[in-house]
Amino acid sequence: MTKRFKRHRQFELSLTVNDDAFLRTPRDSQRSWFLNRTVKEAYEELLELDSITPHMVRGSDQVIDLDRAEGSLDDADIMEDWQIPIMKAMAEAVVSPGAEVLEIGMGRGIASEYIQQLSPASHTIIECNDTIANEFTTWKEKFPKSDIRLIHSMWQDCLDQLGTYDSILFHTYPLSDEEFVETVVKDVTFAAHFLAVAHKLLKPGGALTYLTNEFDSLSRAHQRALFEYFSEFTLSVVRDLDIPESTRDALWVKQMLVIRVIK
Ligand SMILES: C[S@@+](CC[C@H](N)C(=O)[O-])C[C@H]1O[C@@H](n2cnc3c(N)ncnc32)[C@H](O)[C@@H]1O
Repeated sequence: MTKRFKRHRQFELSLTVNDDAFLRTPRDSQRSWFLNRTVKEAYEELLELDSITPHMVRGSDQVIDLDRAEGSLDDADIMEDWQIPIMKAMAEAVVSPGAEVLEIGMGRGIASEYIQQLSPASHTIIECNDTIANEFTTWKEKFPKSDIRLIHSMWQDCLDQLGTYDSILFHTYPLSDEEFVETVVKDVTFAAHFLAVAHKLLKPGGALTYLTNEFDSLSRAHQRALFEYFSEFTLSVVRDLDIPESTRDALWVKQMLVIRVIK
C-alpha cells in the first residue's frame, strides 16, 4: 500500500494506492513522481477554485423542460445575451476572408452574423429546430451577395451532404436531459462527441472552434480528448462576461476560454 497526504489549514488530501501493481513504473522514483504530481495538482486546483468563488454568480440548475428540437423558443432559451462576446471571439478565431465555413447550430444567428462580417466564400449552416430554420430565409436577405446555405437537419443525420471546410464553428446544446447527462455531465466537454466528425470535415490546416465552458485552463482530460484527433490548438480568454445571477447556463465564472483547434 502506498499513501500520500497533503494538508492545508482548510482541507486535507489523501491518496491511497492499494495495489502495488497499479502505476508500476520501471523505477520507484518515477511512480512517486506521478503520485506526487497528482496530489499536488489536485491541491493547487482546490486553492485556485477557492480563489474564484467570490466572483461567481449563483445561477440555477439547468432543466431542459422545453421542446428544444422543434418548439418555438425565447432568445434566452436559445442563448443568453452574455454569450454574445464569445460568439464574436469564436467567429474571429476560425474564420478568415474567403474561407469555406460550416456552422452547426444557428440559434439566434448572432455567430452567423459575425461569420458574415468576416467575408467567407461560403457559409453552410446546419440547424435542426423548425422555427429557427423557418426564419433562415428572412435572415439571409440581410446578406444578398453571400453564399449561405441552410441544411435543416440534425447534424448527425446529414453528414453525407457535407463537404470539407476551412472553418467549423460548432455550437449546439443538448436537446434533452438524457443528452445533457451523456454529453455534459459524463463527458469532458460538450463538444467531445463531435471531435471525430470535425476532424473528418476539416481540410488540412482548417480550424475548429466550439464553446469550451472552461474558464481559466483546459483540463488534462479535455486536452487528451483533443489530442485523440488533433495535434495543435490555441486558447484565448474572453473576460468580463456579464453573466446574470439568475443564469440558467452552465458557466458561473465571468470569463471563458475560446479555442482554435487546427487540423
Ligand atoms: C446555443 S444555440 C446556438 C447559438 C448561436 N451560436 C448564436 O450565436 O445565436 C444552439 C443551436 O443548436 C441547435 N441544435 C442543437 N442540437 C442540434 C443538432 N444535433 N443538430 C443541429 N442543430 C442542433 C439548436 O436548435 C440551437 O439553434
